Amino acid sequence: MHSAVIPKIGSAEAWRNTARDFLSAGVPPHQIVWGDGTAPNDLFAQSMELAPTARITVPRSFVTMANTVVWHSDPERFARLYAYLWRLKDAPHLMSDRGDADLSRLRLMEKNVRRCQHKMKAFVRFREISHPDAARRSFAAWFEPTYNTVEPTADFFVRRFGDMDWRIITPDVTAIFENRKLSFAEGQDKPTLPDDASEQLWITYFRNIFNPARLMVKAMQSEMPKKYWKNMPEAASIPQMIADAPARARAMADAAPSLAPARTAKLQAQLAAHQSAWNGPRDALPAAIRSCTRCPLHCNATQAVLGEGPDHAPLMIVGEQPGDHEDLAGRPFVGPAGQLFDQIAGEVHLDRTQAYVTNAVKHFKFTPRGKRRIHQRPNRSEIEHCRPWMSAEIAQIKPKLIVAMGVTAAEALTGSGEKLLARRGGIEATSDGTPVLITLHPSYLLRLTDPQAKADARSSFRQDLQKVTEFLSQRVVVYPQI
Ligand code: URA
Repeated sequence: MHSAVIPKIGSAEAWRNTARDFLSAGVPPHQIVWGDGTAPNDLFAQSMELAPTARITVPRSFVTMANTVVWHSDPERFARLYAYLWRLKDAPHLMSDRGDADLSRLRLMEKNVRRCQHKMKAFVRFREISHPDAARRSFAAWFEPTYNTVEPTADFFVRRFGDMDWRIITPDVTAIFENRKLSFAEGQDKPTLPDDASEQLWITYFRNIFNPARLMVKAMQSEMPKKYWKNMPEAASIPQMIADAPARARAMADAAPSLAPARTAKLQAQLAAHQSAWNGPRDALPAAIRSCTRCPLHCNATQAVLGEGPDHAPLMIVGEQPGDHEDLAGRPFVGPAGQLFDQIAGEVHLDRTQAYVTNAVKHFKFTPRGKRRIHQRPNRSEIEHCRPWMSAEIAQIKPKLIVAMGVTAAEALTGSGEKLLARRGGIEATSDGTPVLITLHPSYLLRLTDPQAKADARSSFRQDLQKVTEFLSQRVVVYPQI
């Protein structure tokens, strides 16, 4: 029977050397009693002469794992590692066998030690113990790790605090960094360390980053286990902060401004843009319409098509939007729909040149199809974005009567998008009371294919224009429904 006692300081190297000797001498696990110097029998441990035979290689992943597991507190850790190493020498693939119970156990131990190292990096709190005459500042920390992680974690502190002297004292081992040299000594009892000047600052900082509305006690304690609190100055405030959290969160909620969701803000901005009336000087209106970017239609259209006609025309004629011809020419109703309008208007002696002719939407909306640009009806948002221009035109011209041709114009002028055929021939009103005669759009007549329907629509349109002339010559008295 062999026995091996692995010292607390330098455990990793000692276990590696010992295990290598046993393995190369072919000593099976059941013939070794491992100790870490804490059991009474460890004092009497004797090692028998070994006769190394073969040179053994083991997977690097095992060495990495063993270098961590040796710092665990399980008294069986050295024996477990060796038993696994013994199996590994004949089956190197074992390191990747996830179903192996021994490996799982060792992996769990490794994970726990690493977690403990992580906590040590986060929770060690140094206090200054510098001597006034010393060339280097000096610090000490008391820490109580779950496992013996001082030695494997010391390098982290060397990298962090290489320009000062420090020691981390634990019950088992003390790490000492002096004049840039790292050494390890026996552990000690808790020393009395002075208060740190920066402690108050640290506590204030901790209190300030604590958000009572997001308090999750379980998660916090898993991240910062309670056992560490006693050596962390800021942790003294935790119980009180937890107790106060519900009331503070309520107060925060009460005090918080109730912000509308982002979507609402966007909609409100859009609405404000729709409703913003244009009230610049009269002669600035054309330029303002030409440079309009209120809605995306300006991106594809050739230009904004402005209304045209005498300054104080008694009649205003409103269409939907410029068509393909109007978009290119920059003038309203110059294409087929305009020509049909002129024709029928001529039949009732309505002179278009005496009217102000415009559109509810000033840019052409279309989808390209081959070389053609196919008209598309503007949507409600586009109509709303354009409405301030039409309102400004009405305010400048002050017509006695407005003719709304088609549903888009009718909706833009009266606010009602009700079916047009039921309304045509009737007189409604704008919000400020200007009478609006509702009629068909000449493009509608052009689109109809059935000769009878076409003739009927033409006749209706003619009647409506007739009504316009009568209105203007005061032969029709209207009482618009406001
Ligand atoms: N259709 C309209 O509504 N307006 C025009 O300017 C041309 C065609």
